[in-house]
Amino acid sequence: MKNIFFTLASLLALVPAALSQCFPDTNTFSPIPYAGPSQVQFTSCPSQADGPRIFPLNATTFDWWYFDAVSSDGTQAFTVIFFTSSAIGFSFDFFSTVDPLNVWVFATFADGTPPAVFPVPAVSVTTTTNGDGASGDWKGSGISFKGAPDLSSYVVNLNNPLIGLTGTFTLKSRGPGHYNCGPLGPGQDEQSLPNIGWVNVMPGADAVVDVKVLGKPLKFTGHGYHDKNWGDVPFISALKSWYWGHASVGGYDLVFFDMIDPSGANKVGGYALKDGQVVASTCTTGVKIRPIDTPYPPTIFTTVPKALTLNMTLNDGSHLDAVLTQTSTQINIGIYVRWVGTIEATIGGVTATGAALWEQFAVSAT
Ligand SMILES: *[C@@H]1O[C@H](CO)[C@@H](O)[C@H](O)[C@H]1NC(C)=O
Ligand SMILES: *[C@@H]1O[C@H](CO)[C@@H](O)[C@H](O)[C@H]1NC(C)=O
Repeated sequence: MKNIFFTLASLLALVPAALSQCFPDTNTFSPIPYAGPSQVQFTSCPSQADGPRIFPLNATTFDWWYFDAVSSDGTQAFTVIFFTSSAIGFSFDFFSTVDPLNVWVFATFADGTPPAVFPVPAVSVTTTTNGDGASGDWKGSGISFKGAPDLSSYVVNLNNPLIGLTGTFTLKSRGPGHYNCGPLGPGQDEQSLPNIGWVNVMPGADAVVDVKVLGKPLKFTGHGYHDKNWGDVPFISALKSWYWGHASVGGYDLVFFDMIDPSGANKVGGYALKDGQVVASTCTTGVKIRPIDTPYPPTIFTTVPKALTLNMTLNDGSHLDAVLTQTSTQINIGIYVRWVGTIEATIGGVTATGAALWEQFAVSAT
């Protein structure tokens, strides 16, 4: 009996991996959405942690690779997002109506001038996985990224002199990545909300930004971050609101989210690195993010907050209580805002200040 049970349990343990949709190492995306069901992966494969999860893209899917860095003082930031997302799949990328293969660039300068924010079209996209890392070439945009097979480093290359977009953005990892509820590796549920996949291969990184954006230099060192999201239904139908962000403070690299799904259910996630070790990892409890002086939950009608509180419990039971305060917004279209700023945190009784970058989606009327 015991042996039979053991055998059945072993077989069941193999089921998720066996059912996961793994992709070839190289995929080439056309800008014309496929007229039919795309292949979608929501259960992780043995490797390819940063690989595409939707192929080909169709009229209702989205997939993107997200890279950012915030300067150590929270005044400068650089975000680059590589999309293979249809206009209905991810309607926030309105440029997808013209070209679903595009790269959005967001540059926040220290001099307080308005951030430079614009899409760059591509004619085709080739992604290649090697180990857990991925590389992607958005052909025609001049913008590409290249990841190490062990996820230890990434480089985003910008080579579009016609629009004054040149230089490099490098990220050197500070510790292991993760899925919503577990480490990188096979058989993990990759969804952070139903129908929305998430993998965070670089929760914290030493970032070096040395670029020109529309001819204007942006040069700083600070805290980097890289993740990817994807989905098989239109993004705005898969949530009511979400807070997400990352911060580096007191030697910790933090990743946190607090979301409300379409049924009104609250989903939270928290992850922290200290000296390269995972010291917090939760996908069920122990994280709370709330706006200061504006209503919660945020809706399409509520005022956009200027600050948030973050409360998180670390794996050893110690508490993190923090206030995130905006230095500036990198983009603010009401229903979507991304902030750059500072964090003041008390972690296990010790107070420190650091830099943070966070966002709010509020797409529901209630
Ligand atoms: C796109 O692909 C998804 C996943 O296979 C499928 O559910 C959806 O119906 C497809 N959309 C279209 C417009 O064919
Ligand atoms: C959460 O953190 C904020 C900011 O430090 C603090 O004011 C608040 O008391 C904390 N809440 C809880 C429940 O610990």
